[in-house]
Amino acid sequence: MTTAKFHLHPVHHVGPVDSRIFGGFLEHMGRAVYEGVYDPESVHADEYGCRADVLAALAALDFSVMRYPGGNFVSNYHWRDGIGPIADRPTRRELAWGTIEPNTFGTDEFLGLCGRVGWSPMFAVNLGTGSPEEAADWVEYTNSRLPTDIVQKRENTATDSLSVPVWCLGNEMDGPWQIGHSSAIEYGTKARQAAHMMKLVDSSIELVVSGTSLTDSETYLEWDRLALEAVGGFADYISTHRYLDNYSGDSDAFLASGAAIDRQINEVDAACRYVAGMRRSSRRPFIAFDEWNVWYRTRNRTGMWADGAFPAHLVEETYDLQDALVCAQFLMSFIRHADVVKIANIAQIVNVIAPVMTRGDEILLQTIYEALAMFVDRRLGNSLRVGYEGPMLSSPDFSEIDMIDGAAILNAGSDLYVYAVNRSTDQVVDLEIELAGAELEAISSELLHHHDPSAANSWDKPNEVRRVPHETKRGRAALVELPANSFLAVTFRVC
Ligand code: AHR
Repeated sequence: MTTAKFHLHPVHHVGPVDSRIFGGFLEHMGRAVYEGVYDPESVHADEYGCRADVLAALAALDFSVMRYPGGNFVSNYHWRDGIGPIADRPTRRELAWGTIEPNTFGTDEFLGLCGRVGWSPMFAVNLGTGSPEEAADWVEYTNSRLPTDIVQKRENTATDSLSVPVWCLGNEMDGPWQIGHSSAIEYGTKARQAAHMMKLVDSSIELVVSGTSLTDSETYLEWDRLALEAVGGFADYISTHRYLDNYSGDSDAFLASGAAIDRQINEVDAACRYVAGMRRSSRRPFIAFDEWNVWYRTRNRTGMWADGAFPAHLVEETYDLQDALVCAQFLMSFIRHADVVKIANIAQIVNVIAPVMTRGDEILLQTIYEALAMFVDRRLGNSLRVGYEGPMLSSPDFSEIDMIDGAAILNAGSDLYVYAVNRSTDQVVDLEIELAGAELEAISSELLHHHDPSAANSWDKPNEVRRVPHETKRGRAALVELPANSFLAVTFRVC
């Protein structure tokens, strides 16, 4: 039997986990909004036209922040199209995904939804076809209470709008696919102008600078440095994105790819520290990992272009067990880097590369839903460094990585949350978990596993891959058996 051990100690911590790393992302794309969260024709529609079944499934994942309305969509979106009486709103051609935007769901509908479900809204402004003034006006619309014409328009809608505390200055502006794509200097200049006006309207907002969207881009990190320098002291966060893939069909490499997230965070963190250092500033930008997921099967021109259809079935990825194990590794990496990653948003939440799918009035929870659910009651506290002792793996990108990927959180000294992914595709591992010699009693322990790593939930077999309770033996070193291709999440009482 292969064995491994996690050595934990309360003194060796990284810092408090920010609840905002458990965020989501809702874009006007494919069937995410229309036929996703919003579907007045559905038998499940609530009094607001939203799908109660979808919202219940999402509420159970307890997302903290929700990014909106894009994504690539935002770079050709004018927020004023989506406010006021629905009958007066324009239907527009949409050029990021080639669809039609009816604007029946907009700022008020989204903020109302956030208020009902308990999400903190996080908006992205249009720095493609939009102007700094339009961005500042949007902040005024959502956050100001002064007696202006713009604020009056919101009050006329009689919605109970929330304020929006976090704003992204554009989206993936480094990418040639982005409407309004420009150089880092051009982007940074416009972003700074927008930031200046937006903070004049509401000085309490926090701003996210658009960072490099692909780690293999020629401008990776250089873009981040230049954009951060240009935006200067207005920059609270730098955005970074990552979609992991298994194009090569190499499971060993794919399951190791969580290590790529650690590397990306360290590299972007280095750019942030460099910029702060050059400014001789103790105030540094943090990381908003505001799009992350597995995405590759539907990542092609056919899957990503609606060609005038509405609503279009775009990037409706089906997720298997291994994809869920990689998603768990994303969140574990964010926990390990609690000192620098303050916000993270899974992209996306419904129908578009999503944990929740709809078909007519039916709903399906994918494998990645299960992985996300395992963090829900185990998320807050101090992230602990995991001292790993055990077998190693090698992959094409990493010569040596831990076979068991781990993360841990100590909550108020009395509850310990431990997460572990067995990256091996063929070895069962006995894992010992030790916290400074304390007696550990598992009060809940769940395992996500299937004998077939390519198993998925489908409309025919919706419960094929589900998390199940898993035995964890109490002791000064708690003991648990991890099958190959599995994800474990345990809550211990520290006795
Ligand atoms: O999440 C889907 C798309 O992926 C987003 O619109 C864009 O920002 C990224 O390229």
